[in-house]
Amino acid sequence: GEKIPPESMLFSYRGVLYPATISSPETLEALKSFETRSDDVILAGYPKTGTNWLDQMVKELESTDAKYTEEEMKERINAEKKLEIFPRLELGDPGIYERMKKMPSRRIILTHLPPHLLPSSVLQSKAKILVLVRNPKDTAVSYYHFYNNMPVLPSFTSWDEYFAAFMNGKLTWGSYFDHLVEWNKYIDHEKIMVISYEELKEDQVLGMKKIAAFFGFSLCEEDFHRIAKKTSFQAMKEKSNETHGKFGDILFRKGVVGNWRQFFSKAQNEEMDRKFEECLGGTKLAAKMKYDVYC
Ligand code: A3P
Repeated sequence: GEKIPPESMLFSYRGVLYPATISSPETLEALKSFETRSDDVILAGYPKTGTNWLDQMVKELESTDAKYTEEEMKERINAEKKLEIFPRLELGDPGIYERMKKMPSRRIILTHLPPHLLPSSVLQSKAKILVLVRNPKDTAVSYYHFYNNMPVLPSFTSWDEYFAAFMNGKLTWGSYFDHLVEWNKYIDHEKIMVISYEELKEDQVLGMKKIAAFFGFSLCEEDFHRIAKKTSFQAMKEKSNETHGKFGDILFRKGVVGNWRQFFSKAQNEEMDRKFEECLGGTKLAAKMKYDVYC
């Protein structure tokens, strides 16, 4: 398709960049009026931390718990299509929050926004929030490929140029580090749970059991294993044309821990370690991420 000129691809709102073709300042203004329901299932994570994977997993867990019939399942999917609901809370036209009121409970809502940029009702309601985190190096590499392959985002001319932008938070949805620093403030709230991409990769069934317990979903052993199989990287990649259209190949790229080693120079590796330590050293969130083990 037509290439959009880079300067009109992004806009800035409250100091953070967003893609201009799928959101707008008006949408982000309207977002303030978003009404959270106490049974909303909220999934939050910086871009490229594995949010599509988590979304699929949680949808499977929720629908298994709810025991929807096939007919009900279809109705739910059709309702979202009809209402033109966007896959992220902060994307779409300004009318989206009115339309979201018509979605049947339990709504599963995804966002890349950190807590200080979320509408106040999200944190004030009883709705539980599952926060997904991923080590900064793999997140950076994943976002690099995403940026350079997605038509709605400008391209970088080199990895080094991109790396500087990542470190300075000059990317859509802002700074990776700010996100974690902000979420860390909420780590002891009972309505918040943090889970990492790495622990899900290590033992997806165990990770899903924690998620189910957090949201109060009840499933049997067999269900967890069935869902783990259905949402494996291979399975999701194979179905990606169906689920994500032409963006499937961009979204389901490698799905591993440690791909950063092919991209980071020694100096970049050290710079990242320093920055992570500076921002998050000694925090509960850093401990939870087992950052040292994976990097
Ligand atoms: P890579 O680019 O490192 O492969 P998001 O969904 O938040 O945009 O995150 C995308 C990242 O999650 C990509 O990482 C993608 O491959 C990975 N991912 C998607 N589905 C996955 C799955 N089922 N298992 C593991 N990783 C997955």
